[in-house]
Amino acid sequence: MAATGSEKQGATAYYVSTPIYYVNDAPHLGHAYTTVAGDVLTRWHRQRGEKVWYLTGTDEHGQKIMRTAEANDVTPQAWCDKLVEEAWKPLWEHLNIANDDFIRTTEKRHTDRVQEFVQDLYDKGEIYKGGYEGPYCVGCEEYKLPGDLIDGEGEFAGQKLCPVHKKPVELLKEENYFFKLSEYGPKLLEFYAANPGFIQPESARNEVVNFVEQGLQDLSISRSTFDWGVPVPWDDKHVIYVWIDALLNYATAVGYGANQEKFDGTFPADVHLIGKDILRFHSVIWPAMLMAQGLPLPGKVVANGWLMVGGEKMSKSNLTGIKPQDLTSHFGVDAYRWYFLRAIAYGSDGSFSWEDFTARYTSELANDYGNLASRVAAMVGKYFGGALPEATAVGDAERAVQEGLAKAVATADQKIGEELDFQSGILAVFDFVKQVNGYITEQEPWKVAKDTTPEGQARLATILYTAAEALRGVAVLLNAVMPETSQSLWESLGAEESLGALADQKVQDAGAWGILPAGTTVTKGAVLFPRLEEKPA
Ligand code: ME8
Ligand code: MG
Repeated sequence: MAATGSEKQGATAYYVSTPIYYVNDAPHLGHAYTTVAGDVLTRWHRQRGEKVWYLTGTDEHGQKIMRTAEANDVTPQAWCDKLVEEAWKPLWEHLNIANDDFIRTTEKRHTDRVQEFVQDLYDKGEIYKGGYEGPYCVGCEEYKLPGDLIDGEGEFAGQKLCPVHKKPVELLKEENYFFKLSEYGPKLLEFYAANPGFIQPESARNEVVNFVEQGLQDLSISRSTFDWGVPVPWDDKHVIYVWIDALLNYATAVGYGANQEKFDGTFPADVHLIGKDILRFHSVIWPAMLMAQGLPLPGKVVANGWLMVGGEKMSKSNLTGIKPQDLTSHFGVDAYRWYFLRAIAYGSDGSFSWEDFTARYTSELANDYGNLASRVAAMVGKYFGGALPEATAVGDAERAVQEGLAKAVATADQKIGEELDFQSGILAVFDFVKQVNGYITEQEPWKVAKDTTPEGQARLATILYTAAEALRGVAVLLNAVMPETSQSLWESLGAEESLGALADQKVQDAGAWGILPAGTTVTKGAVLFPRLEEKPA
């Protein structure tokens, strides 16, 4: 049995990938959802002190891109170059995505290796010549099984539709090369059984197991009716099927066939993040390709659900698309990164609404968290001239806060770092924020401040130290999700000066108490989550 990612040696990187997205159009909220999730996951692991490799990129070959370019009167390459440079890379930069590499399937470092991989399989007798006749969805770039299709209504009455794109499929009849996928069914089932966490969530796993149990058909791995793709090395009338080309990015980007040291230190991925639309490609075809080549299999494939607007899957074609930039310009980049992971259980479908985002922003970010940070800084300023006082009168109330932080750290580390349950991890941190708010409400430091006895002043110092130290932990815990506001909080606590860079604070150690030194200069920084303007028309 091939080794999984989790069995990799200690020196290897924690390797996470996103899908490489089609560049037929600009990125939308759905793409950003998966990419932000991967960014939070990898920032979390980096902040544990682990070596990390976070990969994203673009899928540039195939009929869908070719047709889009034709419709726009440019070459496919010119179309891809423009979209990548003007839309995709700028959005990831705007959203503070800290990817380590960005692979484009039109790059030579990729196409050369794809040809070698396919040639190898051909030489091993895994590929044979045949003919494909059947339905194909260009939107999915997928050969469809009759059972996958739905009946059209209205303008499409009498036609079979792709269930994802709700558009008629095309009927292909062409000479293709086939990969002997059907032979891998039993090996795949054995692998799924031995690695129960390989496909997540559970519903996705069940779907794939059922699908494979019904028996796999061989897979057409070339197309011969158009030329926008990587040529089949032994037969240049064919281009390699775009999905075989695309899946190989996970290997070519980390040195497959080119840089053995890099490859050994990175491959296979620990986590392939995908949406559930592309589950079979990642959990059936990709592992079978790796098995055929004797390469190790990934740690896990985790499928997110659909982001919906008005009950419809958000996509480029259904015109419900709200641009990510429309939201970031109103709510800010950090709140945007936070919102979708906070509001929707990862793996489930979830609806976006402007109203829900507004309500959560106001109550959780601005009122609970932002106000806590500014009140604490203001009180340290007012009562202690901005010098963080020492906690000399610690009692049960303070010990409860200390325990609350330790618990938030343990829960968030397990939920975000291990289970990819971003919602529960974020909630654990915000429950702690609520706890600290409750602590301040009960302790009433503004009343204690009026007690000028040494005991009174010791109590006041202790309350404010406790609140500031709690916020120190919160800044560390939220850094992966909201790097900009966490940095402002970190600076406002004077922690940059007394403790060093926020990114260097180990997340698993964030629950220790008494890290922020007394005497640190606390300043009232910028408001973390300003009041929202009126919703734009
Ligand atoms: O499938 N909700 O690219 P793609 C949640 N090129 N996630 C969504 C979403 C939505 N409404 N819409 C898109 C491809 N996504 C191939 C991948 S990988 C070797 C090749 C996200 O541009 C989700 O991750 O159609 C989904 O799987 C991906 O974007 C599809 O992007
Ligand atoms: Mg798609």
